[in-house]
Amino acid sequence: MLSRIFLRLGASCGLVGMALGVYMAASHDHVLAPVHAHVNLIGWVGMFLAGLFYAQRPDAAGGKLARAHLAFTVAGLLILAPGLAGVLLGYPFGELMAALGSILTIAAMALFVVVVFRSEANPVLPSDHRPAHHG
Ligand code: HEM
Ligand code: HEM
Repeated sequence: MLSRIFLRLGASCGLVGMALGVYMAASHDHVLAPVHAHVNLIGWVGMFLAGLFYAQRPDAAGGKLARAHLAFTVAGLLILAPGLAGVLLGYPFGELMAALGSILTIAAMALFVVVVFRSEANPVLPSDHRPAHHG
C-alpha cells in the first residue's frame, strides 16, 4: 500500500516535472530549472525509488516510520517546490517556504535512512519466485 502510493506519486511527479521541462524549453525561459530539477529528482526519482524499495521490503513498509517518511516527503516537496519558485521569481514568501520545505525533506530522508537500516537483509520474494523445495 505504502509502496503503491510512493510509486503513483513518483510517476505523477515525473509527468509534472517533465511538463515544466517542456514548458521551459518551449518558452526559452529556464528560470524555474531548479524547480523542474527537484520535482523530477525528489519527486519522480526519489519517490519512485522509495516505492520500489517498499515493494521489495514489505517488512519495512508497515511501520510508523515508513508512514512518517511518506508524509514528510510529500509535505516537504509540496512546500519546497513552490518555495523554490518563490525565491527564483522574487516573491517574499519564497525563502521561508523553501527553508521549511528543506527541513521536512531532509527529515524525510533521515527517516528513510532509519527505515533502510532497520529493514530485513533478505527481500521477501513473491511466492512463485521462491526456489522450489526438493524432497
Ligand atoms: C520531457 C522531459 C524534459 C524536458 C523537456 C526537460 C527540459 C529541461 C530544460 C529546458 C532545462 C533547463 C536547462 C538549462 O537552463 O540549462 C532542464 C534542466 C534540468 N533538468 Fe530537465 N527536462 C526533462 C526531463 C528531466 C528529467 C526526467 C530529469 C530528472 C530525472 C531532469 C532533470 C533536470 C535537471 C537536474 C536540470 C537542471 C540542470 C542544471 O541546472 O544544470 N529533466 N530540463
Ligand atoms: C532537502 C532537499 C534539497 C534542497 C533544500 C535542495 C536545494 C537546492 C538548491 C538551493 C539548489 C540551487 C538552486 C539554484 O541554483 O538556484 C539546488 C540545486 C540542485 N539540486 Fe538540490 N536540494 C535538495 C535535494 C536534492 C536532491 C535529493 C537532488 C537529487 C537527487 C538534488 C539535485 C540538485 C541538482 C541537480 C541541482 C542543480 C540544478 C539547478 O541548478 O537547476 N537536490 N538544490
